[in-house]
Amino acid sequence: MEKQKLVINGGNRLEGEIAVHGAKNSALPLLSATVLVSEGECVLHNCPKLTDVDYAMRILSCIGVKCKREGSTVIADASVAENTEVPQSLMREMRSSIVFLGAMLGRMKSCKLSFPGGCELGPRPIDLHLSALREMGAEITEQHGFLMCTAPKGLHGANISLSFPSVGATENIMLAAVRAKGVTQIHNAAREPEICDLAEFLSGCGAKVHGAGTDIIIVEGVKTLHGCEHRVIPDRIVTASYLCAAACCGGELILSGANAEHLGQMIPILQSMGCKIYSFGKDSIYIRVTGRLKAPQTIRTMPYPGFPTDAQALIMTATTKAQGTTVFVENIFENRYRHVSELRRMGANIKVEGKVAVVEGVDRLYGSELQATDLRGGAALVLAALSAEGKSVVTKLCHIDRGYENIERSLRLAGADIKRV
Ligand code: EPZ
Repeated sequence: MEKQKLVINGGNRLEGEIAVHGAKNSALPLLSATVLVSEGECVLHNCPKLTDVDYAMRILSCIGVKCKREGSTVIADASVAENTEVPQSLMREMRSSIVFLGAMLGRMKSCKLSFPGGCELGPRPIDLHLSALREMGAEITEQHGFLMCTAPKGLHGANISLSFPSVGATENIMLAAVRAKGVTQIHNAAREPEICDLAEFLSGCGAKVHGAGTDIIIVEGVKTLHGCEHRVIPDRIVTASYLCAAACCGGELILSGANAEHLGQMIPILQSMGCKIYSFGKDSIYIRVTGRLKAPQTIRTMPYPGFPTDAQALIMTATTKAQGTTVFVENIFENRYRHVSELRRMGANIKVEGKVAVVEGVDRLYGSELQATDLRGGAALVLAALSAEGKSVVTKLCHIDRGYENIERSLRLAGADIKRV
């Protein structure tokens, strides 16, 4: 797997249809939530086939949750889940493994986890997660890379005010609260669509969750949860990635299974650059790009509904050949410009100063040997290679495969000259 690489000959316009798979950042907390269901099985449709989802299913199996995949449906039965330790090898594989903490405390009242791994986007602290769970009665000690967590008398509700609307912390608190004694309020909660998807699933299992999608979420603890059937929302960042692919290469694409309502400012920004975008109902988007794009206004990444940090590298690639100058301000992560040095090697004109990056549009990019640095930065390099002149080779595909099902197959079916070797 590690030796695989993508060979891309740039310059083709894109024409065709791409089906957008289920959201990674929804499927992961949903899989964690199944730990809390002690009666019956959970059926999750539209669960994407990604390495991060495979790891989450392996973590579930270690805990004692029986889970299996049937196509894009995952079935999980946590009736007899009782193991409280997740092996370090699995925990280190992805950052989102921390979201098992709340669910395991909520169900087993104890767990032992190692500090999460995942993308190197700067320090990935979990202080907001831990302080909130402590307010709910958890005793958490940190010993050389391990978290020992117990709640011998079970968790109780609390009024929690987050200093930052952290997605993962909001999810962990929701998962710890649904079976806690009493009511939990989360103030300054994250408002991402994935939070709403988790709330909808939990409610389907009998939980009492109100306010998801706003900055105040109220959870009233219940004794137990039963299984339910749920469809994972489409991946809004994968949707943004393929919209940016059309922006980079020109042509026209239909994205089926995509929900334009979850894309926030992405569509207006691409339209301001000259892309023609129409969305049909809640499940498909059409984009047509002809001629040279114009640089958009300054792009500042913000918590939802602001511009998503995960789409920053993708839209940046679309601005590298646009006419004019684009200013980026990355407000969410400290180290999320790792794709810039690779783009520069292709001829892009980008200057980075702290959390600000300035992109001067150039006439063309040149194919090059490229290394993916993180999940979205890696996808951005694929887009750049598709729009460059000549041949590119992209390595370290493990980053890209964490968040994109068969990226080369989807793009090849839309006319790109790309293959995995
Ligand atoms: C989720 O990460 C996503 N991952 C990320 O997507 C996404 O970039 C991020 O939300 C922001 O939208 C998953 O959902 C699995 P945060 P998460 O907690 O929960 C700081 C991708 O590409 N912070 O909202 O880790 C943190 O350091 C991934 O799919 C604390 O300081 O994001 C960061 O600067 C990359 N203390 C900021 O908040 C904490 O306890 C945002 O983090 C928690 C977070």
